[in-house]
Amino acid sequence: MFAESEILSRTGGREVAEIAFDTETIAARVAELGREITHHYREGELLVVGLLKGSFIFMSDLVRAILRPHQVDFLVAASYGHGTTSSGSVRLLYDPETSLTGRHILLVEDIVDSGTTLNRLVRLLRERGPRSLEICALLHKRLAPQLELEPRFVGFDAPALFLVGYGLDHAEDFRHLPFIASLKV
Ligand code: PRP
Repeated sequence: MFAESEILSRTGGREVAEIAFDTETIAARVAELGREITHHYREGELLVVGLLKGSFIFMSDLVRAILRPHQVDFLVAASYGHGTTSSGSVRLLYDPETSLTGRHILLVEDIVDSGTTLNRLVRLLRERGPRSLEICALLHKRLAPQLELEPRFVGFDAPALFLVGYGLDHAEDFRHLPFIASLKV
C-alpha cells in the first residue's frame, strides 16, 4: 500500500483514479506465472523474448521466477505514439540478435489491447522457424476480435481502461510506478 502523498510524489501531482493491480498482487501472480512456465517447458532450449518498452519491468521479475535454464532477448516495436488509443500500425525497431530457429520462444508482452502488435509479431516470429511459439501477457483486455495466437500464459484479465505503471506508459510517463493504475482524466 502506498500513501496518497507518495503516489503524487511519484507521478508529479497527476492523480490516480484507481489502482487496478497493486504491488503485492502483481508479485504473487508473477511468481505463479514463473511456476506455470517452468512446468510447461520440460525440455529443449527456451528463449524468452520481451517486447520493449512496456515489458521491461515484467520481464525482469518474470525471468527470475522461471526456474529452468533459459536465455533472454528483446524486440522493439511501437504502435501507440503519444495517444491513448491504438493507431493500428506497428513499427519494428529492433529484432532479437539471437537465433530463434529450433528453440522454444516465449514472447512476453505487458498488455494485449487491440491485438495489433501481437498479430504482427507472431507472424514475423513464426517465419524464423522456432520449435514452439507461445505468448505470456501480464494483462489481457480480451477486446481483440481475432488473435493469431492466444496467449498461453496470462497474468490478469484487464479492465477496458487506459492503464499505466509496472512498465505501461502514457506518453512515456508513469512506467516506473510499482503498481498498475488508471489515471484521473
Ligand atoms: C503497447 C503495449 C503493447 C501494445 C498493446 O506498446 O506495451 O505492446 O501497445 O497494444 P495492441 O494490442 O493494441 O497492439 P506501445 O506500442 O505503446 O510501446 P511501449 O511498449 O514502448 O509502451
